[in-house]
Amino acid sequence: MPRPRLGVNIDHVATVRQARGGVYPDPLEAALIAQGAGAAGVTVHLREDRRHIQDHDVLRIKGAIRVKLNLEMAVTPAIVAFALRAKPAQATFVPERRRELTTEGGLDLRKKRGPVADAIKQLRAKGIEVSLFIDPDGEQVKRARALGANAIEINTGAYSEAKTARARKAELARVRRAAELSHELGLVTHAGHGLNLENVVPIAAIPTLAELNIGHSIVSRAVMVGFAHAVREMRELIESAARS
Ligand code: PXP
Repeated sequence: MPRPRLGVNIDHVATVRQARGGVYPDPLEAALIAQGAGAAGVTVHLREDRRHIQDHDVLRIKGAIRVKLNLEMAVTPAIVAFALRAKPAQATFVPERRRELTTEGGLDLRKKRGPVADAIKQLRAKGIEVSLFIDPDGEQVKRARALGANAIEINTGAYSEAKTARARKAELARVRRAAELSHELGLVTHAGHGLNLENVVPIAAIPTLAELNIGHSIVSRAVMVGFAHAVREMRELIESAARS
């Protein structure tokens, strides 16, 4: 299997649905389309405020796809209990702040070590792989290993947001070093956040990365590449009604 594999984050399909509080677009349909298009996994973030993905989405998607389901989650008792019931193939722990637009940085594994280690243990006991979303920082990588995670996801947010070529190069080097260290320590290494068609190639070329998780840019692009089709479909239906 070529590496890195693609995990598609479909949260923002649910964001569009929630804008009307209805039933479409259905994240399950998006998950099946992603699977059909060759994604190796589907990622959903069940936020505490349920602003996009809902509990029933996770359960329906889990029951319907054959590729890996990766559940992004904060380490809170209620969400951990949900993950233990839902049993995704993988859980990715992320920090969560109510008012952020998206995940703003990696976990700081110097903090809340007890609850994180405990949640890792509970989930792994159910056969769920646990990945920790961290910044590309050697100390955080070592802490992830010490806490008992199977995997890490390196935050590519700073790389994606770098304003100059020089800053981007420096951030790429940080991601590369963190990926090498993670691999040496025997952790499965993922990366993601802010990746798009313009910036993904240097990250995808890092040989020790197993998986990239990409969401917003794919959903955004889907709107644009599908727009003409959707307009044509509607126009043709209206015109056929007008003719009859
Ligand atoms: N990885 C993690 C841990 C995330 O929180 C997110 C955003 O939900 C992503 C990857 C995907 O980021 P983006 O939507 O910018 O591609």
